[in-house]
Amino acid sequence: KNIAVFASGSGSNFQAILEMVQEGKLEANISLLVCDKQGAYVTERAKEAGIPAFVFCAKDYLSKADYEAEIAMLLKDNNVDLIVLAGYMRLIGSTLLKEYEGRIVNIHPSLLPAFPGKDAIGQALAAKANWSGVTIHFVDEGMDTGPIIVQERVRIAKNETHESLQRKIQVIEHKLYPEILQMLMTREEVETR
Ligand code: GRF
Repeated sequence: KNIAVFASGSGSNFQAILEMVQEGKLEANISLLVCDKQGAYVTERAKEAGIPAFVFCAKDYLSKADYEAEIAMLLKDNNVDLIVLAGYMRLIGSTLLKEYEGRIVNIHPSLLPAFPGKDAIGQALAAKANWSGVTIHFVDEGMDTGPIIVQERVRIAKNETHESLQRKIQVIEHKLYPEILQMLMTREEVETR
């Protein structure tokens, strides 16, 4: 199966997924990376690994539909079966949702539906929550909504900082995302249509 990773930032999850593919623990092919930010570190990681990286700047397109139509064409040309969002800071619109319904997954650093959207870690700390965690879910038209596949909790310590909580969450993300992707690879719905 072919996966496309969508990312906007540092790409530590991209790297974790890539390593599991290289170790043969995730039986998938990372066909390509889609990025919406020129110069994002994740594109360096892709280059290093020899994975084609495509940067699409939304402002170069008249509409979200045009922007996504171009991405959809690229995905089709590469026979992509599953879209894996890993820190992609843009809402998926109806064009991609229609093409890839039930075949787009996202990872979010909170126990959804708590703390959706930006800086979920900061939100959890500001709310003085005792717990946060990681959610992996299918993507629908909402912001961090969509059917939940798995969640793992993290205890927030009394002296927790943004940095320390982020570190704890990333350790879980980097293990959990490849595992869940491997599980999804064996599901029929992800078969090429
Ligand atoms: C992760 O915390 C993920 O949950 C969120 O964005 C972050 C991406 O981090 N959606 P990275 O770019 O993979 O390091």
